Amino acid sequence: MPNKIKKIGVLTSGGDSPGMNAAIRSVVRTCAYHNIECVGIYRGYEGLIEGDFKSMDARSVKGIINKGGTILKSARSKEFRTKEGRQQAFNKLVEAGIEGLVVVGGDGSFTGAMILNKEFDFPVMGIPGTIDNDIVGTTHTLGFDTALNTVVDAIDKIRDTASSHNRLFFIEVMGRDVGHIALNTGIAGGAEEILIPEEDLGLDRLVESLKRSRKSGKTSSIVIVAEGDKIGKNIFELKDYVDENMEGYDVRVSVLGHMQRGGSPSCFDRVLASRMGVKAVESLLEGKSNFMVGLQNNNMELTPLDNAIKGKTKINLELLRVSDIMST
Ligand code: F6P
Repeated sequence: MPNKIKKIGVLTSGGDSPGMNAAIRSVVRTCAYHNIECVGIYRGYEGLIEGDFKSMDARSVKGIINKGGTILKSARSKEFRTKEGRQQAFNKLVEAGIEGLVVVGGDGSFTGAMILNKEFDFPVMGIPGTIDNDIVGTTHTLGFDTALNTVVDAIDKIRDTASSHNRLFFIEVMGRDVGHIALNTGIAGGAEEILIPEEDLGLDRLVESLKRSRKSGKTSSIVIVAEGDKIGKNIFELKDYVDENMEGYDVRVSVLGHMQRGGSPSCFDRVLASRMGVKAVESLLEGKSNFMVGLQNNNMELTPLDNAIKGKTKINLELLRVSDIMST
């Protein structure tokens, strides 16, 4: 492997996701394996601009593979959006002797990496870390699987109380403007309806469907609502509409919120993070730059960063059909 790079930096940026620590660990240990120095950069691009760096060796990442969040902290940096901010960041990289950068984050973080690469020809490599699973070029982003399991656990618990009181629950899940979390957890949690931004069910059809469910003998129901769904302006207005248009149903709302981003990463996310870290470092050492590592057909593949952030991953239409059939 041609090995011109002698020092690699790693940062986590944007919304944290379970598996980011496992990815940091993998980057650091792959560097150690190849006798490359590794530098952890705190608070994403914010810390890059300020030179908030720490040398990391194989032992400095012990005991973190099972931890949620990110030991390097994360931030969304306004300053990095300015030319001056990026110049300052580049100067700090050069001063520290860092010759390649691994960015763990979502589309905003990748946009930052691409601009850094374009303006200063600095080698960058992306690892997709977000619970939303909205990045093109990987079937799974880091943290998606863990978030799914967290949400399903919450749905199961809410179902216990929903069925005890014969109630209808609207449960809002994260996902920004895509419905991957909602669709998957809705099926796994046995939801009666799943509302996602990619499909416009309409309020009337929702009410009809809930009435049909009740007629068929269901005494309680769960509706999963993706935060990006626009059927009701927000989930509380949705509740009000259903309250007004369906008599005799006791309706409740539960917004799961940021608990979906926390917790110990699943086995799947730990393995994925480990694979992605190896691929990211070794790709930089092979002289590649401006790519994102991703999972495709169970292989680690590279996707140009600008393709990764273009558009959003499509919803699996077969899953939509499965969810329709399951709610019969
Ligand atoms: O992108 C991850 C995510 O958790 C989204 O699902 C959500 O819309 C957003 O971040 C919340 O951002 P913040 O933590 O800034 O409130």
